[in-house]
Amino acid sequence: MAIVGFIGTGNMGGALARAASKSGLAEQLLLANRSPEKAQRLAEELGGVAVSNQEAAERAQILFLGVKPHLLKGMLDGVRHVLEAREDRLLIVSMAAGKDLATLREWLGERPIVRIMPNIPVAVGGGVTLYTANPLVTEEDKRLLEGLLARSGMVAELEESLMDAASGVTGCGPAFAAMFVEALADGAVACGLPRKQALSYAAQMLLGSAKLLLETGEHPGSLKDRVCSPGGSTIQGVRTLEERAFRAAVTDAVIATFEKKF
Ligand SMILES: NC(=O)c1ccc[n+]([C@@H]2O[C@H](COP(=O)([O-])OP(=O)(O)OC[C@H]3O[C@@H](n4cnc5c(N)ncnc54)[C@H](OP(=O)(O)O)[C@@H]3O)[C@@H](O)[C@H]2O)c1
Repeated sequence: MAIVGFIGTGNMGGALARAASKSGLAEQLLLANRSPEKAQRLAEELGGVAVSNQEAAERAQILFLGVKPHLLKGMLDGVRHVLEAREDRLLIVSMAAGKDLATLREWLGERPIVRIMPNIPVAVGGGVTLYTANPLVTEEDKRLLEGLLARSGMVAELEESLMDAASGVTGCGPAFAAMFVEALADGAVACGLPRKQALSYAAQMLLGSAKLLLETGEHPGSLKDRVCSPGGSTIQGVRTLEERAFRAAVTDAVIATFEKKF
């Protein structure tokens, strides 16, 4: 159990605060946001307390930073005096995309810091949150973090050098998956199925197929083979996708996200 603080309770901070509130590991939830009414509404929903940035930085034992990357340094400058005055242990968890551990150390000093990379489906408990920790973060810290975020979906430690490669799948992937669902539905609509049903059937199919792969550990190629009966209709669809270089296009999309430099 720990006193858990969030500075920045927008889309991502709010979603992770919801997961933390369900974890049973938050002794108290301290919620701070630039527009305080947002933190207040979330506090009412989750049974937490709306506080100032200073109070969150002063009292939290684990402090999530949920402001946009370009605002992070300015926000930290505002609570620097409070952080520097603390003599007890404080674990800081940054979700700012693109801000690596070296930058965070520069801004926060020598202290336990975790960088996390969540994705949009954390909002419905089906996300992936990758994390990388500096050497001051203990195994106990990691178990606490994993426990706090467990209700948001999968939580996995990954070395920092692989974060960009992985986020091409986890962070950008929801956009690719949404395009796939939309395209499947377009096909069914072209064949006469109403749009609403086409979209929900396609999304549920993707969810179920992903669940099957995760729960059984089956290789995707083997699942594909099991669906393709000899002389059947599925293999004709597979052939068409291969002709249009579907797999190469998806692979290249992930590589393109990796190669994009800011
Ligand atoms: N959304 C995603 O899919 C995603 C994925 C991975 C990582 N992230 C990371 O998550 C972080 C938040 O992104 P988001 O999409 O949740 O953005 P967001 O919805 O705009 O939330 C950011 C929140 O920070 C608040 N804020 C801004 N400056 C502040 C300050 N000085 N003190 C306290 N609160 C402040 C904003 O308050 P106002 O209400 O006043 O604007 C807003 O509620 C970013 O670092 C982003 O890189 C997001």
